Amino acid sequence: MTRRTVRIAMNGVTGRMGYRQHLVRSILALREQGGLALGDGTVLWPEPVLVGRREHALREIADRHGLTEWSTDLDAVLADDTVDVYFDAQITSARVDAVRRAVAAGKHLYVEKPTATSLDGALELARLARDAGIKHGVVQDKIFLPGLLKLKRLVDGGFFGEILSVRGEFGYWVFEGDWQQAQRPSWNYRAEDGGGIVSDMFPHWEYVLHELFGRVTSVQALATTHLPRRWDEGGKPYPATADDAAYGVFQLEGGAVAQINSSWAVRVHRDELVEFQVDGTHGSAVAGLRGCRVQHRSATPKPVWNPDLPVTESFRDQWQEVPDNLPPGGGFENGFKAQWELFLRHVVLDEPYTWDLLAGARGVQLAELGLRSSAEGRRLDVPELTL
Ligand SMILES: NC(=O)c1ccc[n+]([C@@H]2O[C@H](COP(=O)([O-])OP(=O)(O)OC[C@H]3O[C@@H](n4cnc5c(N)ncnc54)[C@H](O)[C@@H]3O)[C@@H](O)[C@H]2O)c1
Repeated sequence: MTRRTVRIAMNGVTGRMGYRQHLVRSILALREQGGLALGDGTVLWPEPVLVGRREHALREIADRHGLTEWSTDLDAVLADDTVDVYFDAQITSARVDAVRRAVAAGKHLYVEKPTATSLDGALELARLARDAGIKHGVVQDKIFLPGLLKLKRLVDGGFFGEILSVRGEFGYWVFEGDWQQAQRPSWNYRAEDGGGIVSDMFPHWEYVLHELFGRVTSVQALATTHLPRRWDEGGKPYPATADDAAYGVFQLEGGAVAQINSSWAVRVHRDELVEFQVDGTHGSAVAGLRGCRVQHRSATPKPVWNPDLPVTESFRDQWQEVPDNLPPGGGFENGFKAQWELFLRHVVLDEPYTWDLLAGARGVQLAELGLRSSAEGRRLDVPELTL
């Protein structure tokens, strides 16, 4: 076994996503399993170089995990020829500037979504990366989740017949921050800091819908701010200038209609924090992050509308759980780690990889058009993006 090291500058690892999902659950998890076996006798060993603004926070993380490299000087890290990949999980509004610098330094790129706060910015990054001839990827973790992998398997297997509609329900109550601390960072609720549920979640809905059911061809959305006042990490009240709920209708290539509610001001009466119900001529499914249940046409009940009588059957019990069978070549595991593995293989083995900055720009496009649709009160076409 030979070991090949890939050095990754990781910016934003003091944040929620950067620390938990990317550093701990992906890169350090890969090291714990002995590295990423490439299948040719080589093991890829990811070596993180932590980057951020606060030295004490970086040092504390490095010490906690036995890491030795960190820096508050992004340009110095980018000037280091031994660093192969630049990873960015900073607050969204800081992304474009840092990624521009990383492209100029010739690093391969892996970045969180949304890739930018505007479509122009997202396309600029995609063009810069293409022209520089570097490898680039954008986090699109949801399609690597067990529930959505099961759903994809049903789609690919023809379970649904003709797919008619998709309805998604995403959200939970994010505390205002006064009498209980908010469980999400406050910048998410300030438009001027790149916040808002449309810009956060529509990029996810774009690739989920696109990969499973067909490209989004039109969007009609109503975005709103249900809670106009929140309290920040320091307990100070601030005006919540960003949208905290969005009610969207999406037409898909192939004819299906998707309707997705996204809200940080909703209490959960569901099995999972996100659920998608797919109805087709031959069957239906309800998929969450982990689980997926189906009902075939042959087992579909025939309810008759009669408000005078109590419900006599348990509709939920009439669905069947899709088993946790492993997909070919792998298991159901952390979606972020699964995508990191594919990206690293793309970097070192040149394996195909479609979740790139152009795919990321499609997500930003849908968010931008969603907000415009809401502001103008009309449905908007979503033109196909090219570079
Ligand atoms: N893939 C997903 O499911 C998913 C989920 C949540 C967030 N995200 C994305 O990940 C990114 C980070 O989100 P998060 O929830 O981890 O945020 P966070 O506030 O917890 O972390 C933000 C990180 O950016 C750094 N930062 C750099 N400049 C900053 C500035 N001017 N102000 C504040 N912080 C600054 C912080 O130090 C921190 O490391 C965002 O782009 C967000 O859209 C993705």
